Amino acid sequence: MKNIKELKTLIDKDELTEKIKNLADEINKYYSSNYSENEELTVVCVLKGAVMFFAELSKYLKMPVRMEFVSLSSYGAGEKSSGRVSALNLSLPPLENKNVLVVEDIMDTGLTLKFLLDFIETKCRAKDVKLAVMCDKKCARKYDISPDFYALDVDDKFIVGFGLDYNELYRNIPYIGYFE
Ligand code: IMP
Ligand code: MG
Repeated sequence: MKNIKELKTLIDKDELTEKIKNLADEINKYYSSNYSENEELTVVCVLKGAVMFFAELSKYLKMPVRMEFVSLSSYGAGEKSSGRVSALNLSLPPLENKNVLVVEDIMDTGLTLKFLLDFIETKCRAKDVKLAVMCDKKCARKYDISPDFYALDVDDKFIVGFGLDYNELYRNIPYIGYFE
């Protein structure tokens, strides 16, 4: 158990929401320059961690949005990836010929999103699949994958808040912080 009084701010609430808004602009630009403004987008939220980022980001998307949820887990207890992905819920509607944006809290080793991307690309025959993450921890990458869109670069620190947890706690914190 960590002491919440020792939580330091990495990025505050206002700065984070501004970055997410800017990211939504970038995503809107990509879809409006490649597809018609009426083309729907299926936004897939990776539970549980992406829930706050997904809610904030989707408020600013301008195309018709369909919201879907999958539930995956790759972290064991604590601060290290288990190296395995558990798929707790992978049910998605038919995505044939659809534009899909997968939304995740953080890309760390890349295992979780590689797994989900492979699943969507092989099983669902979508038209266009893109990845948007709130935090890109590039220095921890072990798999050949990178996000198409990300709101912030983070270094190799274990962070919590805005959906990110430590042993299932602290997801509710409205900013991103770390324990020293
Ligand atoms: P990956 O599969 O190694 O890329 O790990 C991705 C998952 O690990 C994320 O969806 C998070 O749930 C978790 N994770 C990775 N780094 C952190 C962190 O710094 N804080 C909280 N969770 C993390
Ligand atoms: Mg996660």
